[in-house]
Amino acid sequence: MITIIKDRIEWDHSLFSVGIEKIDDQHKVLVQLINSIQLKKNSKDKDFIEKIVNTLVVYVEKHFHDEEQIMQNMGFPGLGKHKEKHGKFDQIAREFAQKFSQPGDQAVVLEQLVAYLKKWLISHILVEDKAYKDYLFRKLD
Ligand SMILES: [Fe+2]
Repeated sequence: MITIIKDRIEWDHSLFSVGIEKIDDQHKVLVQLINSIQLKKNSKDKDFIEKIVNTLVVYVEKHFHDEEQIMQNMGFPGLGKHKEKHGKFDQIAREFAQKFSQPGDQAVVLEQLVAYLKKWLISHILVEDKAYKDYLFRKLD
């Protein structure tokens, strides 16, 4: 797990799959976007980095929306709690975007952002999303 946090995230299907292809595909895009930000971490190309970060924020919103729809359709009882976590991420992502657009040490902000995103994605997929996966599988049993 530590190597995943330290370096770029590698998609591991047996570990990350939530059993819903659409969601897995979206998670793969999130992994790619986070890896792209990580790669550009030391770049001075602020516009480019800003573009990737904004793309990520927009994509995460779409992903949350789709995920909430799926959870609602399956009657997942943890939907309310899960929505709260999504809201918290939105808030933190916006704070980062704002910090990043202000003058200051962008490299430091970016470093913090990448570290946050990697930890967030791992726990989002492995802990929170796994909860609705388990629920769905129990239901189908
Ligand atoms: Fe997700």
